[in-house]
Amino acid sequence: ASYLQTACEVAFDTERNVDEYADVDWDKLGFRLMETDYMYIMKCCQDDEFSHGQLNRYGNIELSPSAGVLNYAQGLFEGLKAYRKVNGNGFLIFRPEENARRMQIGSDRMCMPSPSVDQFVHAVKQTVLANKRWIPPPGKGSLYVRPLLMGSGPILGLAPASEYTFLVYAAPVGNYFKEGLEPINLVIQDESYRATPGGTGAVKTIANYSPVLKAQMQAKKKGFTDVLFLDAVDNKYLEEASSCNIFIRKNNVISTPMARGTILEGITRGSIIEIARDFGYEVDERLVSVEDLTEADEVFCTGTAVVVAPVNSITYKGQRYKYNCGEDAVSRKLYKSLTDIQMGIAEDKKGWTVEI
Ligand code: COI
Repeated sequence: ASYLQTACEVAFDTERNVDEYADVDWDKLGFRLMETDYMYIMKCCQDDEFSHGQLNRYGNIELSPSAGVLNYAQGLFEGLKAYRKVNGNGFLIFRPEENARRMQIGSDRMCMPSPSVDQFVHAVKQTVLANKRWIPPPGKGSLYVRPLLMGSGPILGLAPASEYTFLVYAAPVGNYFKEGLEPINLVIQDESYRATPGGTGAVKTIANYSPVLKAQMQAKKKGFTDVLFLDAVDNKYLEEASSCNIFIRKNNVISTPMARGTILEGITRGSIIEIARDFGYEVDERLVSVEDLTEADEVFCTGTAVVVAPVNSITYKGQRYKYNCGEDAVSRKLYKSLTDIQMGIAEDKKGWTVEI
């Protein structure tokens, strides 16, 4: 295919100097696709194992119109970030093994073969190194890495595809929300649901994301930043926003919806739970109701793309609840602590970062 490039050319290109930067206005990064130089591709057949992955020039891929992913949404994605180290050369990737493990759990749910953890991490490292001139300067953003796993083989009747493609691409990003690091305003959606018990809410299947678009668009039209979903059974327990997990704080207790098959167990969610406990907060993973929200001192969202976003207000049935998101907000402390580790400013005592 036209996007293929010889290994030799790629090897030459990836030796670029660490100091070399792509021609980007780093102060204007948002969370938008900026095409970079390379992507990693590895394929395998059903009942087989992935092998022989390689870097290719970034570009369009060829798919059969009857590919499993196009017809039956047999696909997963992941998201992780690479940062340029603040002091000295090198780059840090945040917890890639966790994404690899999550993809393995998701691939089992979606009847797909999965790359091994080593293969996944190798592909991510290769993609980051090949695109290193696109990693923003320290403090300006990160390289967002997007691994995909899809049923690429043709299939007409409903069944697992015959061939699978694992693809990793990357793009430099800044803040996720247009508010930047400013507090966001959420609205509770209680007419459509993101996930149902026994469904796929806990895995990162591509089909979890487009169904939220309608509610998200309607909320944005009304001036809200994003939508917060409730559980589909009782219609009263918080689940997650369209692209991130949610936390509330009351005094010294931080609570987040427990993972019971309908929310994504975010890697940032898990990291923030650990950091908050290290700071001395009690962190509960439990059912968190809308009533709990009305009494909370503080609310914040977490996600790879979002990082830690303080919530200014949540609107529910026309009533607006306001939260502390000033300089003393705990979410700001948690954000700093997490990003200091991600950028190599603070010592990584937990072994979360992978240096390349
Ligand atoms: C991420 O935070 O990495 C995600 O996958 C959410 C996505 C909708 C941007």
